Amino acid sequence: MRIYRAQNYEDMSHAAVQILSEQIVRNPKAVLGLATGSTPLGIYRNLVDWYQSGKLDFSGITCINLDEYKGLAPAHPQSYRYFMEEYLFKHINILPENTHVPSGTAADGEAECRRYEELIASKGGIDVQLLGVGPNGHIGFNEPGTFFPRETHCATLTQSTIQANKRFFEREEDVPRYAYTMGINSIMQARKILLVASGAGKAEILRKAFCGPVTPQVPASVLQLHADMTLLGDREALSLM
Ligand code: F6R
Repeated sequence: MRIYRAQNYEDMSHAAVQILSEQIVRNPKAVLGLATGSTPLGIYRNLVDWYQSGKLDFSGITCINLDEYKGLAPAHPQSYRYFMEEYLFKHINILPENTHVPSGTAADGEAECRRYEELIASKGGIDVQLLGVGPNGHIGFNEPGTFFPRETHCATLTQSTIQANKRFFEREEDVPRYAYTMGINSIMQARKILLVASGAGKAEILRKAFCGPVTPQVPASVLQLHADMTLLGDREALSLM
């Protein structure tokens, strides 16, 4: 595992874009696994800038997102599909058919999870998976206690995640209680993993996940076992490591 300490959020975002861009330039047909949340916003801003200044071409790139709230339609402003369109997809030359987010409104949830796993396999797997980490150690929506061998499934959000994510919704009651998420096993299949974290609020969980034992109680800790894992944090996030 490599650990990069960035000075601040801007440096962290810039370093992450360098890592992602290397993949895009070396393999114009790369498959990127993407995340939502606050942490990747600077990364997406930089990717858009680099695209607009002619440094990156997304025409052959495929993006496969980690997760989506169950029950939210793509047009819902808090859906992860909407987020990705707003912050990345609509600003770059990626083909719409090459952007993938689980369907939050699928009539048959189990079929949707199977479809998502088959989709990842049909694209030849994920070349680089971008991850954030929740304050409770979740990656995607794999909450503490998730069985490591799981693939894409419907997860029940913990109270801690509902609390952490309510800032995006008008009222706490509006936060969906379930979400479709790639499983730990789906994530671990990616050829390369890049986890980004920023701010003092992530310091304690990073210490537990990367300096403590590998345990389902801290889902991100499983990443210690990945052969090509990079943790990229700013000074505050890495302050306890
Ligand atoms: C988002 C996701 C989540 C977030 C995590 C951190 O697609 O899968 O696991 O990465 O909750 O979120 P932020 O970056 O908002 O702290």
